[in-house]
Amino acid sequence: MLNVVVLVSGGGTNLQAIIDAVESGVITNAKIAGVISNNKNAYALERAQKHGIRGLCISPKEYASREEFNEKFLEEVEKMNPDLIVLAGFLVVIPPAMIERYRNRIINIHPSLIPSFCGTGFYGLKVHEAALARGVKVVGATVHFVDEGTDTGPIILQKAVEVQQGDTPEVLQRRVMEQAEWKILPQAINLIANGKVTVENGKVNIAE
Ligand code: GRF
Repeated sequence: MLNVVVLVSGGGTNLQAIIDAVESGVITNAKIAGVISNNKNAYALERAQKHGIRGLCISPKEYASREEFNEKFLEEVEKMNPDLIVLAGFLVVIPPAMIERYRNRIINIHPSLIPSFCGTGFYGLKVHEAALARGVKVVGATVHFVDEGTDTGPIILQKAVEVQQGDTPEVLQRRVMEQAEWKILPQAINLIANGKVTVENGKVNIAE
């Protein structure tokens, strides 16, 4: 049974997709051991509570230095014994010590087809604003392993979504969530929970 810890900062629609997938059996061999947010007002924490999932809030703002936060944050994560850590809209930089400790066991959902519209400064609506400004006709989402870079780790799954005439950033964001993020994130967790995912020379292999 894969112990999954989900890190969130906002509304938690990706967390909800994971919860629903576990409860419906779309994800097998896994359970959500806990949800950690840096934002005490994150609706994601309410979603966890409604489903009887342990929620915890820990924020860099509560600590005198980032080093102190990093230490405490890693401690709290370790207490939940994660086999897999899922960043579902988590907006705090993951401490290097945590990336080392959980090499290829931290995954992130990014709302673009990496390597487009990713890296520092590309998060939330900014991703979709940039895509519309460039005039691309296809966007999408990516699930990848987290390494020391920003959105640079080995890619696990991607799913394309069409841009439609007259799309606003908000409308496009919602379509990417509905048609891509909420599908490939649970799918990636299920593949990992069932031992189908390996990483070789920085590339992901998915067993049939
Ligand atoms: C999503 O758009 C995700 O791609 C990005 O942050 C947003 C989180 O949304 N990483 P939610 O909190 O899951 O609703």
